[in-house]
Amino acid sequence: MSFSPNWQVLSLSLLLVGGTALAEAPPKTTPAANHVARQRPGHAAIASANFHATEAGLEVLAKGGNAFDAAVAVAATLSVVEPESSGIGGGFMAVLHRAKDNHDVFIDARETAPAAVDSKDYVNADGSPNRDTALKGPLSAGIPGEPAGLVLIARRYGRLSLQQSLAPAIRIARDGFKVDARLHGAIAGEQKDLQRWPASAAKYLQDGKPPAEDSLWRDPDQARTLESIAAHGNDGFYRGETADKLVAAVKAAGGNWTLADLASYKAMERTPISVDYRGYRIVTAPPPSSGGVAIAEILNILSGFDLSKMGQVQRVHFIVEAMRRAFRDHNDYLGDPDFVKMPLDMLLSPFYADGLRQGILPDKATPSSMLPRAEAHEPGMHTTHFSIIDADGNMAAVTSTVNYTMGSTFVAAGTGVLLNDEMDDFALVPNKPNVYGLLGSVANAPAAGKRMLSSMSPSIVIGADRTAVIGSPGGSTIITQVLEGILHFIDGESAQQIAAHKRFHHQYMPDEVMVEDGTFDPATSAALTKMGYTLKQHESWGFMNVVTWDRKTNKLDAASDPRRPSGLGKVQ
Ligand code: DON
Repeated sequence: MSFSPNWQVLSLSLLLVGGTALAEAPPKTTPAANHVARQRPGHAAIASANFHATEAGLEVLAKGGNAFDAAVAVAATLSVVEPESSGIGGGFMAVLHRAKDNHDVFIDARETAPAAVDSKDYVNADGSPNRDTALKGPLSAGIPGEPAGLVLIARRYGRLSLQQSLAPAIRIARDGFKVDARLHGAIAGEQKDLQRWPASAAKYLQDGKPPAEDSLWRDPDQARTLESIAAHGNDGFYRGETADKLVAAVKAAGGNWTLADLASYKAMERTPISVDYRGYRIVTAPPPSSGGVAIAEILNILSGFDLSKMGQVQRVHFIVEAMRRAFRDHNDYLGDPDFVKMPLDMLLSPFYADGLRQGILPDKATPSSMLPRAEAHEPGMHTTHFSIIDADGNMAAVTSTVNYTMGSTFVAAGTGVLLNDEMDDFALVPNKPNVYGLLGSVANAPAAGKRMLSSMSPSIVIGADRTAVIGSPGGSTIITQVLEGILHFIDGESAQQIAAHKRFHHQYMPDEVMVEDGTFDPATSAALTKMGYTLKQHESWGFMNVVTWDRKTNKLDAASDPRRPSGLGKVQ
């Protein structure tokens, strides 16, 4: 029996016995200023994880492109200069806002399982999970979605040709760029696995060693593959020579992709999730991301509390309890909407949130003891997010990934394409955690052509006078980082303050609050511990890139997470 009905009964019974002594809840706000007023910023802002990528986006804007052309340029450039995080061998999720008709759309360029996917490949003979096939080599790789997603954005939303938007990435791949400390560190960290695959070693290692920091790095194979996409769109990657090379390389190394898997891949346009919270409308990622559902559920729970009138301990308590409940649902219900029926109406309903809120005790942590414990892992510095607002008020929030650092570490010979290891985002072995400690149910079991669940949560926050485009990498912590970023924005913080803010996270299992050093003072930590929380210091807190637009003053701001020096937020 699943846990959820029990919880609902518990919530309901608490409701019936009078609920909790809550801080007085403010009246529910009327729906937000749902649409950005017809107003143009007249200038643009981009924040991304790498200055080459931010500059590439600004270059495309200067050539007459819009935010969507710039998004194509930034994503393709990140594929070249930040391969440890994202690339054309991976996938992305994006929320776009088109200003001229107030059209919001979610672009789902998530990877899919190949038709021949076989769960047995991810289990050892003794029945234990095989973490190697899940995370390294061709069996760990889903069919890439990023090329199709870029083609879709360029063709349906861009102003420039694909050639023009891909030009900066192709130029940088051909002419080269200086290896920065992050890329050097990522290659050094994955050196052993890169050595297992000849084309990976040939691309990323020189005499068996990572390229030195500041040395010039060229990627001619990827330049050719990007040129092929620029010239032929989807056919330049999913059919013909590139597809032949990808399938041949994967098969030769023990994988199971076919040409049909590539030819049938489709990026999707979906309706984003919208949730209203304190006069703001948050437009965010629907399934196959769990991010938007979780953020909406958390905000719906929190809308019954007046966080602004609370001290830190109380505030953190209610936020963590809301996180715990949303992540429980994440584990139980969510998967690819094309494959599973999900009770989204229930999960997104304010009434459901009311019930969950009533189950929160005012001064005690609720133990998450209904599922087996799972170990969370440090999410590291992979996956990438960038945010764009252009002069016309178009916006793009894009989170892109190859999953774990340097994805599968497998490069398909002759293509320069580093393949993702996104198959680990499926619940490959029931009730066994993935690399982020997330548990999944049948809803997220692998199946031919199915998209694996993601935490990626690109979001746009629209208030009466202020707008933010926000997102971050960070595995399962993406959801809570973005949630906290939204709350800080609504509290009036600037882009720089939001990106720098200290963070905390709870994901139901393991039942602990992951905390960034310096988030809580000793008295707060002691009070939370007394309430029943286990606080655990956590090292890695994403790489938030956020742009904001104050529509009253018409001021744009762009900030890249100060935790990572390679990023650049810039207003043009
Ligand atoms: O889609 C997901 O949820 C993961 N593949 C994202 C991985 C990630 O953020 C890695 N971290 N920094």
